[in-house]
Amino acid sequence: MPRPLRADIDLEALCHNYRLARDLAPDSQSLAVLKADAYGHGLVPCARALEGLAPAFAVACLEEAEALREGGITAPIVLLEGVFSAEELAKVDAQGLWMAVHSDWQVEALLRHRLEKPVPTWIKVDSGMHRLGFSPERAISVWARLSAAPTQACDLHLMSHFATADHADTEYFQRQMSALRALAEKLGAPTCLANSPATLARPESHGAWNRPGVMLYGSDPLEASNTASRRLSPVMTLRSELIAVRDLDEGEPVGYGGRWRAPRPSRIGVVACGYGDGYDRHACDGTPVLVEGRRTALVGKVSMDMLTVDLTDLPEAEIGSEVVLWGCAANGEVLSVDEVARYCDTISYTLLTGVLPRVPRRYHGG
Ligand SMILES: Cc1ncc(COP(=O)(O)O)c(C=O)c1O
Repeated sequence: MPRPLRADIDLEALCHNYRLARDLAPDSQSLAVLKADAYGHGLVPCARALEGLAPAFAVACLEEAEALREGGITAPIVLLEGVFSAEELAKVDAQGLWMAVHSDWQVEALLRHRLEKPVPTWIKVDSGMHRLGFSPERAISVWARLSAAPTQACDLHLMSHFATADHADTEYFQRQMSALRALAEKLGAPTCLANSPATLARPESHGAWNRPGVMLYGSDPLEASNTASRRLSPVMTLRSELIAVRDLDEGEPVGYGGRWRAPRPSRIGVVACGYGDGYDRHACDGTPVLVEGRRTALVGKVSMDMLTVDLTDLPEAEIGSEVVLWGCAANGEVLSVDEVARYCDTISYTLLTGVLPRVPRRYHGG
């Protein structure tokens, strides 16, 4: 018997979530963001499942785009941060990629490079995230320069990223949005602005293209969920089994440092999953876990290969019982990765991208 831990990836749920993103924005094209190994779900299998549904994909870097091409993906691929050196432009050209430009050196390199064909180019605007991009004023001159170089750049779009589209308070989002609206109107430019929270809750940001990421994997990014976000389905189920069960007297500690002590005579289950698999070591006592589809709680510190759960109220649980760390149990009970993330003082993005390669991915549906 191999170690029972695995990540089951439901490609049907991935397609369902993509269709939801698409249907929320009927006047936009929705590309699927597949960076960071499709948020830990597997780059090529997810791209293959979505090919034919999504008209384009987005990744963070050339290496990810090349992996998609090597996997047989022929759809357009956008490099969200553009190239990291001028030398990469030859591969952008050869692989037929699209790219963002966020800095002057990238624009200069694009204008100088001898290309086979012009590169579809998205001009990144810093509308308030203050991470990458040109100020709205600078974007006007970049737009003019690239428009005047049709052998180098084509299909120009304005692209920007929201800092707070997930917040219930929309004030800062509105500030970014009005700067972008004014700029797009002035240039008559098509836009690509919406990430998952904006796709789900800010229809005014929907542009020629949208860029949903985490919602495709079934995580609800909104501070205040809405009817659309409640229709998302989890794609990854991190599933394991109980490998040992023991009885403890009241007051006995569990695990490193004895962080948790049994408040009553307790039954403890040991689960094959730890931080060496990517399960967050910051998970606190009380972090929800499903055992045989019933909610119980993590107790004691997470160790490298194991974690411990309270089975005192689950007398039927035994060695070999199913344990779901997040996702969907065999009985249909769902434990959302967003809820687990809150107990780890983090966000679903880090839990999903943090599942380590030693956890086998098993693909279903799609
Ligand atoms: C530039 C850009 N666009 C889109 C996304 C997708 O965002 P989300 O996963 O919140 O939908 C990201 C994610 O970090 C990003 O950096």
